[in-house]
Amino acid sequence: MDGKYVPAEQGVISVRTHGFAYGTGCFEGIRGYWNEDTRQVYLFRLREHYERLLHSCKILRIELPYSVDDLIESSAELVRRNEQKEDVYLRPVAYKGDEIIGVRLNNLTDQYLLTSEPMGNYVEIGGLRCGVSSWRRIDDNAMPARAKITGSYVNAAFAKTEALQNGLDEAIMLTHDGHVSEGSAENIFLLIDGELVTPPPSDNILLGITRDTVMQLAKRELGLTVRERSIDRTELYTAEEILLCGTGAQIAPVVEVDHSPIGTGKVGPVAQKLQDIYFDVVRGRRPEYLDWCTPVYA
Ligand SMILES: Cc1ncc(COP(=O)(O)O)c(C=O)c1O
Repeated sequence: MDGKYVPAEQGVISVRTHGFAYGTGCFEGIRGYWNEDTRQVYLFRLREHYERLLHSCKILRIELPYSVDDLIESSAELVRRNEQKEDVYLRPVAYKGDEIIGVRLNNLTDQYLLTSEPMGNYVEIGGLRCGVSSWRRIDDNAMPARAKITGSYVNAAFAKTEALQNGLDEAIMLTHDGHVSEGSAENIFLLIDGELVTPPPSDNILLGITRDTVMQLAKRELGLTVRERSIDRTELYTAEEILLCGTGAQIAPVVEVDHSPIGTGKVGPVAQKLQDIYFDVVRGRRPEYLDWCTPVYA
């Protein structure tokens, strides 16, 4: 927390904190995977996560006194100090720390904290039932989705709550002009005519690091064509396969949208293959992708 390692009980902020009252913070969600064979925790695509954090900071006018390399090093150090030899989830948060009343971003104090905790699956990975949300995805000109802003997760929470209360697992949100955007905390891919299709950055998505991983693995490992283009709602119903992906969700195949089965209504072969490869890659079992995995223990 602000350059010091402190016990969790001491990692507290004031109830008057700007970031708490107004959502003026940004964060990352990073996974570390325990590999029993090498007795190592691998932090996945740390550099990309911290580069994105600094982009979010730029948008929120937060200036951190740390470089990407500093942030990478403190992440590995935190897991070491916690002596975590298991799957973990790291959450760095950069936020406006002033205890004042007044909505703005300029002339405020920027603070930083990082936590690391054990983490299992975030959503079902054996076949998700989804619904198109009645909540629209936040728009770039209102609250930019490409920045991972704490306050904007209220939009995600509305959509996710509606899905859960409707008896579903996850929401799929549309943009204001009705194109498919993303899940509450996941990017989306559709298999259409044997090609993997995903919404472009301009459809108000968070530019996911897992999304980039899926694009690279699909091309390199499965020889698939990957297209970024706007997707109409009804293409969800006719897609051969659908998957959601994200650091939390990992690779989560979708078997149903709005009570309509996707493809055969079972996990499709492409999503299954991508999920299998992904889990090997993140656990450091694929030497050719070890560049993406930062080992925590020497
Ligand atoms: C809204 C949203 N979209 C997409 C993602 C996936 O991003 P990433 O793969 O970088 O975790 C996340 C979060 O993890 C998210 O919160």
